[in-house]
Amino acid sequence: AKRNGKLPKAVIAVNLYGQSAKMDEIVSLCDAYGVPVIEDAAESLGTVYKGKQSGTFGRFGIFSFNGNKIITTSGGGMLVSDDEAGIEKARFLASQAREPAVHYQHSEIGHNYRLSNILAGVGIAQLEVLDERVEKRRAIFTRYKNALGHIDGVRFMPEYAAGVSNRWLTTLTLDNGLNPYDTVQRLAEENIEARPLWKPLHTQPLFAPSLFYSHEGNGSICEDLFKRGICLPSGSNLTEEEQDRVIDVLAHLFQTAEVKKWTASIR
Ligand SMILES: Cc1ncc(COP(=O)(O)O)c(C=O)c1O
Repeated sequence: AKRNGKLPKAVIAVNLYGQSAKMDEIVSLCDAYGVPVIEDAAESLGTVYKGKQSGTFGRFGIFSFNGNKIITTSGGGMLVSDDEAGIEKARFLASQAREPAVHYQHSEIGHNYRLSNILAGVGIAQLEVLDERVEKRRAIFTRYKNALGHIDGVRFMPEYAAGVSNRWLTTLTLDNGLNPYDTVQRLAEENIEARPLWKPLHTQPLFAPSLFYSHEGNGSICEDLFKRGICLPSGSNLTEEEQDRVIDVLAHLFQTAEVKKWTASIR
């Protein structure tokens, strides 16, 4: 990009499913080129990377308080930075770029992106239970892994050694002849909501014209994960009984797949 005279304005690193990206490597590479890093920590609130809270490594960090997040204000989010001027500018743009004049003066396009005081109050109250929520999500992950992790061809997302993931969603890859769509469909038949892993952005029709750089030599890792991975129900209010129901359906499905694979191999 530098050779072509087109360095990006910013790099947005996204911490998926609660796991922090390798921020040291990303930040030092971007620093070398003078490109600011924005850390999308929407899914990783409460995650720790090398002893420090996720979302505090880039020039800006963003958090989401959408309904499905680890704490929620029903909608909205939070921008963090120690760049005071940057935060002030964001506040200005999020408040319709309204200039200090009694007659509503605008020289720039702004947005109506404020979080109301009421929702902020709900968010602050929930910060008190953040550690509990992280513990709950981690316990959900461990329970799934203990019940299903030994099955051939099932691999739960490993945890980065220098971090503690909030395990926002329990994710796993399947290498047992089952594809994510059939697995999600089978769970849906039991009234259990699961999803494939997120579709890689460069495969979204909207971004078809955009540049995409794949991992050198190994093909696209995210496309490979998308073909093999699923997210399991992981809400903090999931009861053990509900989780057992998910485990029973999956154990049955995985065992059937294993038997099929085994019989195919001896034919
Ligand atoms: C990684 C990531 N970034 C951004 C968002 C968007 O956040 P919001 O829904 O608060 O706009 C989400 C989820 O909603 C997300 O998971």
